[in-house]
Amino acid sequence: MTTMNTRAIPVIAIDGPTASGKGTVAQRVAAALGFHYLDSGALYRLTALAALKQGIDLNDENKVSAAASTLSIQFIGEKVILDGEDVSELIRTESASQNASRVAAFPAVRRALTERQRAFRAAPGLVCDGRDMASVIFPDAQLKIFLTASVEARAERRTNQLKQKGISAILDDVVKELRIRDERDSNRQVAPLKKLDGAYLLDTTAISANAAVEQVLRWAKDTIRATQ
Ligand code: DC
Repeated sequence: MTTMNTRAIPVIAIDGPTASGKGTVAQRVAAALGFHYLDSGALYRLTALAALKQGIDLNDENKVSAAASTLSIQFIGEKVILDGEDVSELIRTESASQNASRVAAFPAVRRALTERQRAFRAAPGLVCDGRDMASVIFPDAQLKIFLTASVEARAERRTNQLKQKGISAILDDVVKELRIRDERDSNRQVAPLKKLDGAYLLDTTAISANAAVEQVLRWAKDTIRATQ
């Protein structure tokens, strides 16, 4: 496939902070459009997990980036497989989240994962979510969205999700953890989380996931129609 052909494949890039609901929205939009889906955060989560499994110190940028470039992973439906093991639950714990945020601050790790992410761009289109989808990985994305919500709303959703899984969580602690990750993800040197000029802002503090999905689908239909 030539570069020109690949660039013609529509990409909907959804960036936003932790627990903003971007993953849920992105997955539903992908399903509605019949597009592929990339959960880029999972790659950082898997990198941290793979490094730990190999006994690598998460402060060692070179070794962690080597683990990133040799990740053996599969996405099967909602399942995430690392070296043949189903790690779908393991990569979603709070410590896995903080570890992902730490390794994601290393430039060499981000470089090691760049082409792997771009390879998800396949016909008929891709919906991806993360922090730098629109700024770094797919700067030519046809539609760029910054999806956010207040830290209180995000913490409440995260607490409810944890409770549903039978994990007790204290709202104040979750707020603190989200603030730590927001701070690290937004203030790092490489590919910090930020809303790009020209990206649509979607604040989901006061709207349901369904309403957010419908809004993205309206933008998607307008944008993709306009570019075809
Ligand atoms: O989206 P998430 O919560 O699963 O992401 C986990 C961590 O990975 C997040 O704290 C920051 C990092 N990340 C990133 O730096 N760039 C991305 N495109 C996606 C995630």
